[in-house]
Amino acid sequence: MQRILVTGTNRGLGLELVRQLLARGDRVIAACRHPGKALALTEMAGAHPGHLHVLPLDLSSERSIVELVRETTALTDALDALINNAGMLVSGERFGEIAHKSMLDSFAANTIGPVLLTQALVALLEKGANPRVMNLSTRLSSLAGTTAFGTPSYAMSKAALNMATRQLAAALAPRIRVFCVSPGWVKTDMGGANAPLSAHDSAAGLITLLDSASAATAGRFLDYAGKEIAW
Ligand SMILES: NC(=O)c1ccc[n+]([C@@H]2O[C@H](COP(=O)([O-])OP(=O)(O)OC[C@H]3O[C@@H](n4cnc5c(N)ncnc54)[C@H](OP(=O)(O)O)[C@@H]3O)[C@@H](O)[C@H]2O)c1
Repeated sequence: MQRILVTGTNRGLGLELVRQLLARGDRVIAACRHPGKALALTEMAGAHPGHLHVLPLDLSSERSIVELVRETTALTDALDALINNAGMLVSGERFGEIAHKSMLDSFAANTIGPVLLTQALVALLEKGANPRVMNLSTRLSSLAGTTAFGTPSYAMSKAALNMATRQLAAALAPRIRVFCVSPGWVKTDMGGANAPLSAHDSAAGLITLLDSASAATAGRFLDYAGKEIAW
C-alpha cells in the first residue's frame, strides 16, 4: 500500500490514475479544482472507504497550494509519491497573436504550480517509503524534437517543467527521486478523440514507471513505456 497524491484528478489521465491506484489498494489523495463537482471521484470515495480523500487545488494559486498541503498533513504523516498530473493546453494559438494571459496561465499551471507544490510537500515525502515525484510532461516540450510552430504556451511551459524536474531532482537527491514522463498521445479532453492511446493503457504504463523508479530514474525524461526521450 502506497500513499500517493495526484493532481488534476477530476477527469482524463488523473482520474484514470486514481482509479488504478485505488484498485490495487493504495491510499490516494486526489486533488482537483472543484471537488464538489467531481462526481466520479465522489463515487470512487464511496467504493473505497478510507482510501480516497478528495481535496481542492488550483495550481495557479499559491494560497490553494498552501491549503492543500495543510489538509494533506492533517490526513497523513507521510507520502510515498506525488504525481504532478494536472496541466493545461491553450489550443489555437497563432504566431503574431500569442496572448500574455495564455502564457501566464500555462506557466502557472504547468510549471510554477508543480514546483511550489513539490517544494511544499518535501517534508511529507521525506518520511515516505522510496519517495518519488513524477511530473507529467509531453513530447511537445522536447527542444530536440521541435521543428514546427505549435502550442507555444504549452510547449514552453512544459519545457520549463522539464528543467524544473532536473533542478528538483538535484535538490532532493538521493532521498526523493524526481523524474518526468510523457504519457503518449492519449484519448482525453486534451488529447482528443483521435488519440491512439487509451487513458487506461497510458496510466497503467505510468504506474509501472512510478513503481520501478530508482535512483537511476531521477532527472530523466521517459515515455509511458519507459523509453528515454531527448530533451
Ligand atoms: N492527453 C494527451 O495526449 C497528453 C499528451 C502529453 C501530455 N499530457 C499531459 O498529461 C497530463 C494530463 O492530461 P489529460 O490529457 O488528462 O488532460 P485533461 O483531460 O485536459 O485534464 C487536465 C486536468 O488538469 C486540471 N488542471 C488544469 N489546470 C489546472 C490548475 N490551474 N489547477 C489545478 N488543476 C488544473 C484539470 O482540471 P479542470 O477540470 O478543473 O480544468 C484536469 O483535471 C497533463 O499534464 C498533460 O499536459 C497529456
